[in-house]
Amino acid sequence: MNNCDNKRAMAEERLRQVPVKRVLFVCLGNICRSPAAQGVMQSIVDAGGASSSWVIDSAGTGDYHTGDLPDKRMRVHAMRRGYQLTHRARQVSEADFGRFDLIVPMDASNERNLRRLAPTPEDEEKIVPMAAWINIASRYDHVPDPYYEGAEGFELVLDLLENACDRLFEAVNEKKQPL
Ligand code: 4NP
Repeated sequence: MNNCDNKRAMAEERLRQVPVKRVLFVCLGNICRSPAAQGVMQSIVDAGGASSSWVIDSAGTGDYHTGDLPDKRMRVHAMRRGYQLTHRARQVSEADFGRFDLIVPMDASNERNLRRLAPTPEDEEKIVPMAAWINIASRYDHVPDPYYEGAEGFELVLDLLENACDRLFEAVNEKKQPL
């Protein structure tokens, strides 16, 4: 098991042990990748009948887009897959480490910024990159920023997010074996 798998397994175990699983997805602007991750995860949780045991949110390490809806292009691509994205962008803060059990950066730069922000070593352990759950495209060790890309960049992000969110939900929601 490599370091990333280990961090992922530990995070999944922590989430299994809390009755309400609080997950925060984080990117740079909080208008493309992380609000899409929030929408995809919420949809999976709702479809799995688990809405009351998950709290899903998203935030950005930057504050350039505070208060904005997700980028129009991301809203259009997400809507084609049935996800309505209505989140308003906000900047991540130190207080988020007290509010969430798992904090999921989209790329290495988001991860570095979150590690700097984490108030305690225990809080830092809540940070696990989204790539830890991606297994459809092994060359992606991060969710690439689609902001300066074309339509295929947004589709790729949604493919990666659906893969990662499915796997996170399955791992945490696994039914206990009956005695
Ligand atoms: P996100 O994409 O981090 O996935 O929300 C970006 C959105 C805006 C900018 C960069 C990335 N920006 O530079 O404004």
